Amino acid sequence: MSEVDYLDTLLKEDRRFPPSEAFKAQANFNDPNIYDEAAKDPVAFWAKQAEEISWFEPYKEVLQWDPPHAKWFVDGKLNAAYNCVDRHREGPRKNKAAIIWEGELGGCKVYTYDMLGREVDKAAHMLKNLGVQKGDRVAVYLPMVPELPITLLACAKIGAIHTVVFAGFSAKSLRDRIEDAQAKLLVTADAGWRRGHQVPLKRFADEAVEGTTIETVLVVKAVGDSATYTMTEGRDLYWDDEMGKASTKPFPPEKMDAEDILYLLYTSGTTGKPKGIVHTTGGYMVGVHTSMRSVFDLKDSDIFFCTADIGWVTGHTYIVYGPLSAGATVVMYEGAPDYPDRDRFWAIIEKYGVTTFYTAPTSIRTFMKWGPEYVEKHDLSSLRLLGTVGEPINPEAWMWYHTHVGKGRVPIVDTWWQTETGCAMIAPLPGLTTTKPGAATKPLPGIIADVVDENGQSVAPGNGGMLVIKHPWPSMLRTVWGDDERFRKTYFGKFPDWYLPGDGAHKDEDGYIWILGRLDDVINVSGHRIGTAEVESALVGHQAVAEAAVIGRSDAIKGQAITAFVTLKEGVQGTDELVAELKETVAQAIGKMARPEEIIFTAELPKTRSAKIMRRLLRDIAEGRVLGDTTTLADPSVIEELKKLSKYQT
Ligand code: PRX
Repeated sequence: MSEVDYLDTLLKEDRRFPPSEAFKAQANFNDPNIYDEAAKDPVAFWAKQAEEISWFEPYKEVLQWDPPHAKWFVDGKLNAAYNCVDRHREGPRKNKAAIIWEGELGGCKVYTYDMLGREVDKAAHMLKNLGVQKGDRVAVYLPMVPELPITLLACAKIGAIHTVVFAGFSAKSLRDRIEDAQAKLLVTADAGWRRGHQVPLKRFADEAVEGTTIETVLVVKAVGDSATYTMTEGRDLYWDDEMGKASTKPFPPEKMDAEDILYLLYTSGTTGKPKGIVHTTGGYMVGVHTSMRSVFDLKDSDIFFCTADIGWVTGHTYIVYGPLSAGATVVMYEGAPDYPDRDRFWAIIEKYGVTTFYTAPTSIRTFMKWGPEYVEKHDLSSLRLLGTVGEPINPEAWMWYHTHVGKGRVPIVDTWWQTETGCAMIAPLPGLTTTKPGAATKPLPGIIADVVDENGQSVAPGNGGMLVIKHPWPSMLRTVWGDDERFRKTYFGKFPDWYLPGDGAHKDEDGYIWILGRLDDVINVSGHRIGTAEVESALVGHQAVAEAAVIGRSDAIKGQAITAFVTLKEGVQGTDELVAELKETVAQAIGKMARPEEIIFTAELPKTRSAKIMRRLLRDIAEGRVLGDTTTLADPSVIEELKKLSKYQT
């Protein structure tokens, strides 16, 4: 569906789902005045939320705002791992399940808060033994195994900065991130399971670390097959061996300043170089903890299952820091939704009595394609809240989720946020907000967001524009690692006092916000952000390619799919073999998720007279639409040429 058709569908959506009285009565946030109170004084609202976090030393000031730089909870001292683990060990949650881990092949491991605490402490001792100090960067390239959250929490405990690289990224992407972060130690695994096959992570890691700042590679035996890799003497060590040598004594948590960095997480932007998003300790913990209570209405009895990978921000916030800070039981699943069969998520919900299920619209659209019979095989009566994240959800998918998974009785929270925002920003409060299928609804209490036009004027209801956040919030990014200028330009370049997320949005007659998607050259494939510039730079790195332009075209399942228009060097023939080779080149350079769906060879790319590639036109071609105004084209004949070559021609 094109953007225009999509907006059309949204505007016709008139179904309403008010919260049930029963849900409202028990909800953590059920006083409608909360919105107005928080809007009047967001700083006071956040100060109140900060009481839920355990501080070693109180902060002296809630907010210092010198746009674009914010400091929250100034001079406060805390430790994120202490908040996520130790404080629960000291009370009645000591023997409560913190993490229930389900392996792809079927095994299950349960860590109570006390057991998790012991593992985290041992891992903290281990990292210290290996020379990791407060402020050092630790790169993490792991499949979804328990050692992943344990590593993150151990870093947090000693004050080291973790930077997780999703295990689907290529060796080159890992290397780029290690180099940018100047990481000292890498935690990886022998391999990871994916649909019953092994992904040789250690081999990729070897390629990535050669000649970088990495001094030590710690290898988790996630698969236990040593045939696929070698260990380098003096650099590579096994996790189990080093854990075996580490002290079993409690590890005293490092007293971190609220503004000390907790982690870096790289995300795509509009240049070829990913940005290291910087999150600090105090604000992030307050933000994520609050959203667990507000958006997810978390109770001690909840079993929380977020299907994201910890390699992305959703996993950082809603598998590790959010649920654990709130003392929840979190389900962590290692593998694919269709292994061994297409009912795996529903089987997990039934097996553990999951109450809160959080997934991406792409997954929901995939479940729709597979058919409701996989859902119906299982008892999902434990569910009491459903969530979505990562991309716009079309009303049809929302309704399917509501009907087949929620059985028409479970509220859905469509949560809009970003790597940069740290936690959910625009989402319903399930005990208060009447939901509309396809709308992220309203900014959460304490978040001041709006839809504005080019001049920064708030658009009237019924209109669209740019999404902006008009007031700082605790879990906002503080800068881009090593590039404050890029931080300033990207997010505060247009409006110096407001944060610009880069998303387009529509404001309806009730003031509800409907997110429409990226306004910049970033593609959202299955909820994963991929910069067109990164894919283009991978393509032009191939010897046959002269020039490349990459766009995201609408895709019924993935939201967007990548189409690459490629001009070849003189004398090179565009063959099927070359198409396959170029796709592989991108997969090698970035990762499989960035592999273009189609590659279209063309003699020329459409450009304006100032040599700017006309991406909108390329998108029209890829989506088979009648072409719009082409009068600004330097060479209009290019379009005829492109239309002939495109398999989507009208
Ligand atoms: O375009 C928005 C889309 O995902 C982008 C952020 O991607 P990332 O930093 O990878 O974080 C994804 C998980 C938080 C946003 O700029 N996006 C995220 N959630 C939604 C969404 N678009 C529409 N509706 C959402 N609920």
